[in-house]
Amino acid sequence: MNAALPDIRPHEEWFRAYVAAERAGERENPAPLDLKDLHTAKVLAHARAIVAEEAFAPTEARAALLAALYHDVARFEQYRRFRTFRDAESCNHGQWGVRILKREKRLDTEAPAIRRLTLAAVGMHNRYALPAGLPDAFRLVTCVVRDADKLDILRVMDESLHHPDAATRTAVLSLPDTPGLFSPRVRDDALCNRVASYADLRSVNDFRVLLGTWFGDLHFAASRRRFLAEGHARHLVETLPEDDAYAAVRTHLLNRLDNSPC
Ligand SMILES: [Fe+2]
Repeated sequence: MNAALPDIRPHEEWFRAYVAAERAGERENPAPLDLKDLHTAKVLAHARAIVAEEAFAPTEARAALLAALYHDVARFEQYRRFRTFRDAESCNHGQWGVRILKREKRLDTEAPAIRRLTLAAVGMHNRYALPAGLPDAFRLVTCVVRDADKLDILRVMDESLHHPDAATRTAVLSLPDTPGLFSPRVRDDALCNRVASYADLRSVNDFRVLLGTWFGDLHFAASRRRFLAEGHARHLVETLPEDDAYAAVRTHLLNRLDNSPC
């Protein structure tokens, strides 16, 4: 790893202790918390790779790593309180994460610019779209987290949809896997190289399509290279059925993944 990367070890140590305490309080089923712990480690690793390759200024680089580490800090309390990771049925975990970081005074020792960038990125990482007019530094740091998050969500979904068990199913959207059920809007988005929306999903296969469209929603060449190299999107798209509903979109997405310059 690049020696110039910011050192956030004290934050990582706090996070480990926080997760251990949350896990100790979850006697019924800690497996979903373990998935979020692993997800955080993977997102941080992706963020480090992006930061190392994209050569950011020190303030943005440090905020990007802190935001990657803390982006899902609220997932542990969210699950323990509501027994779900679905924001619509519980709380906005990005905004709740900001409240936890303030409550725990996690960023009080950081420079004000780093603190603002980190809190903004945690709070906005799960928005469908970023607000217009967002200043460049805020957009950059938030996009590192959003790209890194997407890269690991692909891994989680690829594994979940192929090796379902009780713990991993918790991480998967509850959607029917009924043959013939599909969303024309999701299919059209994919065929037009638009990013599909969660709100339009009707089936598990729609979700595979949506994940394939994320290639067009990555902000850094480093992210696109990792997206292709990890192969999860390709694997997800390959498992779409070659029927009337999905054959065309399957071919289109595979061509796009195989022939896109980064
Ligand atoms: Fe998140």
